[in-house]
Amino acid sequence: MRFENKVALITGGTSGIGLAVAQSLAQEGSKVVIVGRNQKKGEAALQSLKQIHSDVMYLSVDVSKSNEVKQMVHKTVSTFGKLDFAFNNAGNTEGKTALTHEFSEEDFDNMMGATIKGVWLCMKYELRAMLENGGGSIVNTSSLDAFLCSPGTTAYATGKSGIITLTKCVAHEYGKQGIRVNTLTPGAIKTSMIDSKFEGLSAEEAKRLEDKYNNLNTLGRIGTPKEAAAVVTWLMSDEATYITGQNIIADGGVSFV
Ligand SMILES: NC(=O)c1ccc[n+]([C@@H]2O[C@H](COP(=O)([O-])OP(=O)(O)OC[C@H]3O[C@@H](n4cnc5c(N)ncnc54)[C@H](OP(=O)(O)O)[C@@H]3O)[C@@H](O)[C@H]2O)c1
Repeated sequence: MRFENKVALITGGTSGIGLAVAQSLAQEGSKVVIVGRNQKKGEAALQSLKQIHSDVMYLSVDVSKSNEVKQMVHKTVSTFGKLDFAFNNAGNTEGKTALTHEFSEEDFDNMMGATIKGVWLCMKYELRAMLENGGGSIVNTSSLDAFLCSPGTTAYATGKSGIITLTKCVAHEYGKQGIRVNTLTPGAIKTSMIDSKFEGLSAEEAKRLEDKYNNLNTLGRIGTPKEAAAVVTWLMSDEATYITGQNIIADGGVSFV
């Protein structure tokens, strides 16, 4: 029980990688707050977490809205007394892709809101709570797209790329106050984000796309949410107390091929 009596806040914690992290931390004793926009999805995720830990809470929040983010941190601290861990993982997973000249300004703003601005806003309020707590650990989710720069993903890749620099800057600012800040950069992980790319494809097209994902990396397969969650859980733990400002890439080996 490495996280007994700890309090964790997980944005995008209602499915996929975030939910896997919530399960992992709760299994090891942490009180957990999960955050997403869709109430129904959030309540379902909460029910599954209640099987693991009694001190769990769901909050319906859009991380791009500052008043909602401020309330999110306030509600976490007023309910569970403090904030030890934050996983700023919510991101625009709806997959808007288009070449730059065809991408609308509104979509660009939404993309930045759900990626870089959302992470910045979350940290702005989480850091205040962690300073009061005498320290803490933050992990922010980027994406391998930040390095691949595939045509059509420019806005998403740019937002995710900024998260890596933002993480490093904030790590420098708060290291001496006992706050560690790191980035998780996942490659393809089997969540609804990847599943949505298979929607509407014929069996043959789906097979081709699956092969493409599998052949993209050295291990020859798509990763699981549990594999991504293991990295985050380790970063939060006392086994990683000398790690800050780092970007940990969990991509099955794409980035070194
Ligand atoms: N799966 C991959 O292959 C992969 C690869 C690289 C990076 N990532 C990143 O990993 C993170 C998690 O994605 P996932 O793969 O686990 O997909 P997912 O299962 O679709 O999870 C996305 C989560 O984020 C929440 N969310 C989205 N926009 C939000 C917003 N504006 N405010 C609050 N919550 C929001 C969703 O809940 P609601 O819909 O209810 O809001 C959900 O809980 C994302 O940042 C994604 O960009 C994933």
